[in-house]
Amino acid sequence: PKVDHALSKDLYQLMEEACNFYQAQLRQHSDKEKAQNYLEYRGLSSEVVERFNIGFAPDGWDNLLSRYRDNQGLQEKLLTAGMLIANDNGKRYDRFRDRLMFPIRDRRGRVIGFGGRVFGEGTPKYLNSPETPIFHKGNELYGLYELKLKHRNPHRALIVEGYMDVVALAQYGVDYAVASLGTSTTAEQLQLLQRSAQEVVCCYDGDRAGKEAAWRALETALPLLKPGDKLKFMFLEQGEDPDSTVRNIGKEAFEHHIEQSKSLEAFLFEKLTEDSAGDKSTLAKQAMALIEKVKDEILQNLLLENLAHKLGLNSSDELKKKFGFNSQAAKANPLGAKGLKGRGTPLRLA
Ligand code: GTP
Ligand code: MN
Ligand code: MN
Ligand code: MN
Ligand code: MN
Repeated sequence: PKVDHALSKDLYQLMEEACNFYQAQLRQHSDKEKAQNYLEYRGLSSEVVERFNIGFAPDGWDNLLSRYRDNQGLQEKLLTAGMLIANDNGKRYDRFRDRLMFPIRDRRGRVIGFGGRVFGEGTPKYLNSPETPIFHKGNELYGLYELKLKHRNPHRALIVEGYMDVVALAQYGVDYAVASLGTSTTAEQLQLLQRSAQEVVCCYDGDRAGKEAAWRALETALPLLKPGDKLKFMFLEQGEDPDSTVRNIGKEAFEHHIEQSKSLEAFLFEKLTEDSAGDKSTLAKQAMALIEKVKDEILQNLLLENLAHKLGLNSSDELKKKFGFNSQAAKANPLGAKGLKGRGTPLRLA
């Protein structure tokens, strides 16, 4: 996406100023204890708070705005940066109020957005910066800059769901996690991380949404994969996330869990085996519909050989002959004969 450089330069400066402002409020605002108590409650150390430049947006409509009282031009830039909002009457106010603030940096370390967590219960739990000329959340990873400060060439990186997961893991010494900034990890995020680390491990929350996010990540990654790329999947106990898990079991056991992560092939075949409930032809069709999406031929053939072996066939040629690789049928209904249970995927007729 194109960025207006004259404008964006100032946006970066203003975002850095806002970041410094929120950090200062954590140290000196009259309500700072509210934020400090919450940090204590979440078990975050002052070291990790410093390292991630976590701050405090106090309650009130104009804590940030009032610093730019006499400067309409900068206020307009803060609107563009998503830090201020204008109501229907044109009256401006702070977007982030009464929240714990997580600054989001780009690869070069520039602050481009924020995530703000409510103290305790309340909705939304996290308020994020909107898309702006300098913040495209599908292209960024929370914590990537901080990871690279620690490890220039990390052997491994974890993708987790949340800010708190990244920060808690770092506090416990698992200082190579990043968070995708929304519900789904995008292709851009996977590629960005694959370029930064030799092995990427998806480690989403131990709930239905987390399991589905892992599967979506697999589907997103498949077309991009090349032989030698390492994408793995780690599954947490039901109801746990990386933050709660590392606090429960500690760094060593957590890293042991990472070592046990499933390979992409293992996750793919396990999930499809589960879904097809013992029906080998369904398994074959579903697997081949996915394998068709792999653009790299070598990897595609490896997966086909693997599938043939699982089905008790001698070779991928036999598999292709038997189930018709690249056939219209597979393309018309990628979910296989049964379709998605309950959602009535129609078979498209040619
Ligand atoms: P804690 O409850 O503070 O431990 O956060 P969490 O990260 O465990 O929360 P959860 O698993 O519910 O959400 C994971 C990530 O999804 C968060 O870190 C946010 O980035 C995002 N998220 C969660 N809730 C909201 C929300 O209400 N609005 C938006 N926009 N994003 C959210
Ligand atoms: Mn380390
Ligand atoms: Mn979750
Ligand atoms: Mn969570
Ligand atoms: Mn959590």
